[in-house]
Amino acid sequence: MAAVVLIGAQWGDEGKGKITDYLAEKADMVVRYQGGNNAGHTVVINNQIFKLHLIPSGIFYPDKLCIIGNGLVIDPKVLLDELDYLQSKGIFTGNLRISGNAHVIMPYHRMLDALEEEFKGEQKLGTTKRGIGPAYKDKASRSGIRIMDLLDKNEFSRKLAYNLKEKNLILTKIYGHEELNYSELLQEYLEYAEKIKKYVADTSLIVNQYLEEGKKVLFEGAQGTLLDLDHGTYPYVTSSNPIAGGACVGSGVGPTKINKILGVVKSYTTRVGEGPFPTELTESMGELIRNRGGEFGTTTGRPRRCGWLDTVILKYAVRINGISDIAFTKLDVLTGISPLKICTGYSYRGKMLTEFPMSLSVLAECEAVYEEMPGWQEDLTGITKFEELPTAARNYISRVEELLKVPVSILAVGPERTKTIIRQKIF
Ligand code: IMP
Repeated sequence: MAAVVLIGAQWGDEGKGKITDYLAEKADMVVRYQGGNNAGHTVVINNQIFKLHLIPSGIFYPDKLCIIGNGLVIDPKVLLDELDYLQSKGIFTGNLRISGNAHVIMPYHRMLDALEEEFKGEQKLGTTKRGIGPAYKDKASRSGIRIMDLLDKNEFSRKLAYNLKEKNLILTKIYGHEELNYSELLQEYLEYAEKIKKYVADTSLIVNQYLEEGKKVLFEGAQGTLLDLDHGTYPYVTSSNPIAGGACVGSGVGPTKINKILGVVKSYTTRVGEGPFPTELTESMGELIRNRGGEFGTTTGRPRRCGWLDTVILKYAVRINGISDIAFTKLDVLTGISPLKICTGYSYRGKMLTEFPMSLSVLAECEAVYEEMPGWQEDLTGITKFEELPTAARNYISRVEELLKVPVSILAVGPERTKTIIRQKIF
């Protein structure tokens, strides 16, 4: 199998970074296809913790090409800071390639993200305030600035002048904010361009060449299915398409090239930001899972809302992404909790729903219906074979497979690379 898309099956933060890092070792190339530095990947290598927001986790392997595809929005300062950070830790970064078609996040995008959230008041989305939504808004309205525009001084000057004229009016007239200075911005971004240009390439061409040569390509989704702009819990979503289909659009690869879709599922559910969450645990159990699982945002540090595993959501994720295999993460976090609950349906106005509802107002009224299963007390973190897991843990996994009709091929029982159980090879 040469092309695998790895996606988050819930609301993001499923532990994709660790699985990507694990699979990157087997791959020849790792491609990010959407989002920006709203993402946060934590990778633990030799007891050292690395936090990445933009650069694909494959960067830790000098012999793999790492691609930032056309579907991303890039904050150049964040990109350069991340490159400096990696280089300061002795990580080689010459294997990074950035699509000229990716869009640039400008300071006005970050400002508007924060101002729009404030303006929305109670209706706020709880964004990461990294300028993601406003940058994608400009992309869709065809006024955005792409990396290739940034590299062309004349083109960039022209586009910046046009954009700033409009954005300064919005900043001052709508939000009563100060204007941004054209010359300062121009100079700052041209300096970024100088530093970035050596990484810029026609990434669609490179990815397709790799695929034609039969090399192994891992497409790494950020965020998760329920944060998808089209299929997530709109409007409480991000502004890109994290689902598997997004990999084709965001990297310039045809759907016929994709062989497997690996859905990363956390053993419980978390969510950051606003919006309905049927299995949310607001009491001490939620607190316990949050602390045990270290459920605080990599990007914003915000505490994540925690809840039981929800297979209604997961069935939906299997359908929307065409998931062929599951990577089940953070199983060790559930040790000592008994009974465990799995949501198998929603009760809505006296009716039982087993399919994820299209309407957010219906979802907001849904109450989770649970099955209970006995938990286990044993420490899982040293286990390397599925057969060695406690019976209760194996039963929990089997029940998930039964409900979702998809095999759990990978299991994570701790944050380090080595704490991974493989049942079925992905590459
Ligand atoms: P934005 O992507 O910053 O516009 O935020 C939109 C929504 O997506 C908010 O609810 C964020 O908390 C959520 N979000 C964005 N990126 C991530 C992520 O990497 N993990 C989890 N939630 C995210």
